Amino acid sequence: MGEQKAKEEGQLITRRNAMKVLGGSVALSALYLAGCTAEETEKVEQPKSDPDGYPVTKIANLADIKVNEPITFDYPLKTQSNYLLDLGVEVPGGVGPNKSIVAYNRACQHMGCPSNYDDTRNTFFCPCHQTVYDPSFNGSVVIGQGKASLPRILLKVENNEVFAIGVDGLIYGYRNNLMDGDRV
Ligand code: FES
Repeated sequence: MGEQKAKEEGQLITRRNAMKVLGGSVALSALYLAGCTAEETEKVEQPKSDPDGYPVTKIANLADIKVNEPITFDYPLKTQSNYLLDLGVEVPGGVGPNKSIVAYNRACQHMGCPSNYDDTRNTFFCPCHQTVYDPSFNGSVVIGQGKASLPRILLKVENNEVFAIGVDGLIYGYRNNLMDGDRV
């Protein structure tokens, strides 16, 4: 009898210990999940995730922009390279006195290589797999592997100065144009 009782008590203790351990695990899991949720909420509330929070950044004086000579600038983050370009003739979305000034992000929409401006053909050319984009027609793909038009940098002209004020399109490699880097 005594042996049987001791055995039963042992089982009870074992069950109690197991419950303690399990209870601790559940509590820890709950705390962990609560921590994750708080962290996720913080991420969502970061100002950098605001899609309308683009900086207004001066790019150049109108007088300094020459036809067919692109000006390179970073926007909206310091590592996002773009061309400001005067095509010399009115184009869709162009600004300036002749509505001929546009700006596009350089990262190719195929795999992200920086495209270059080809001043003999007035196109953006990606040296990695030869995709060609047309800055006179919304940055659209002329030929090649690019899956979408180049993102357009939105511009405004004020007091003979050109400013970047936003981006139309998602820059290659980013889940949000304003996240994962330092703003200009
Ligand atoms: S990365 Fe530009 S064509 Fe492939």
